[in-house]
Amino acid sequence: MVQKVTKAVFPVAGLGTRFLPATKSIPKEMMTLVDRPLIQYAIDEARAAGIEEFIFVTSRGKGALEDYFDHAHELENTLRKAGKDDLLELLRQTNMESGAIAYIRQHKAMGLGHAVWCARRLIGDEPFAVVLTDDVVLGEPPCLQQMIEAHAETGGSMVAAMEVPADKTSAYGIIDVAEDMGAIVKVAGMVEKPKQNPPSNLAVIGRYILAPTVLNNLNKLKQGAGGEIQLTDAIADEIREGREVFGLRFRGQRYDCGSKAGFLQATVAFGLNREDLKDEFADYLHDMLAMQKAAE
Ligand code: UTP
Repeated sequence: MVQKVTKAVFPVAGLGTRFLPATKSIPKEMMTLVDRPLIQYAIDEARAAGIEEFIFVTSRGKGALEDYFDHAHELENTLRKAGKDDLLELLRQTNMESGAIAYIRQHKAMGLGHAVWCARRLIGDEPFAVVLTDDVVLGEPPCLQQMIEAHAETGGSMVAAMEVPADKTSAYGIIDVAEDMGAIVKVAGMVEKPKQNPPSNLAVIGRYILAPTVLNNLNKLKQGAGGEIQLTDAIADEIREGREVFGLRFRGQRYDCGSKAGFLQATVAFGLNREDLKDEFADYLHDMLAMQKAAE
C-alpha cells in the first residue's frame, strides 16, 4: 500500500531577483494576489490535500514570512471588540495549529534541490510533497489534492505536468514520456530547459510528490555539484536507478507568479474571480482596453 503523504516542503529561500527592488525587504512569497500573500494560497492548497506538517526552507530576510503565521492575538481582540466577526473569521482561517510548522534555514541559495535537501531530517523516510509558492494553481480539486489522489494509485514519485506551446518548451523542465496513460504519464527522463528538440511539450511545474530516496540522490549531487543543485537531476536519478516517476496532467490553470507578467496575469484572473470585486474590476478593465484601442 502507498504511504499517505502528510508532509510538505515549501522552499522559500530563493533571492527573488526578478522582483527587485521589492524583494530587497519583502519576501517574494509575501507579495499579494488581491489580499492574500502567495504563501497563503500554497498553504490552503496543501491543507485541502490533507497535509499536516508544513516545512519551510527559509533564508536571511524572510522574517516577515515567519511572522505571518504567528497568531495575532491583539488584532483578534480588537476585531472582536469592534464586532468585526467576518474579519476575525478570515484571520482565524490563516492560523496554523501549534507545532504544524517547522522552519529550517538554507544558508546559501544553492538551488531548489539543495533547499529540499536541507529539510531531509524533518522529512525522514516517507513520501513528501514539494510546493513552489511561485506557481499558483486555480483548480478544483486543488492541484496537490489531484496529485495525492493519483499518487495513492501509482506510488513512486510524481510531478505536475502541463502542456505548453512548442515555442515555450525552452523555459521549462520537459518530460520525456515513456508511456502515456491519459491523465498520467510514465516518465522516461526530464530535460531542463531544452534549447532544441524537446522530448515532448509536457512541462513540469512547481508541485511534486517525492519518494524519500530522492533525498539520497540529492545527497550524492551535493557531494558532486559545483553550481546549483537541481531537483530535476535528483528525480531523473530515480528513473536511472529503476524507480518509477509519473507526471500528472492536472486540471486547472497555473500562473507563474515568479515572473512579472505571470504575476500581473494572476492578479487580473484572481480579481475577476472574486465576487466582491469582479463587476467593478471587469468594468475598469473593459474601459482601459477601449481607451488603449482608441489611442492606437
Ligand atoms: P526560482 O528559480 O524562482 O528563484 O526558485 P528565486 O530566487 O526564487 O527567484 P529569481 O529567479 O531570483 O527571481 C524557485 C523556487 O525555489 C526556491 C525559491 O524560493 C522558489 O520558491 N529556492 C530556489 C530556494 O528555496 N533555494 C534556492 O537556492 C533556490
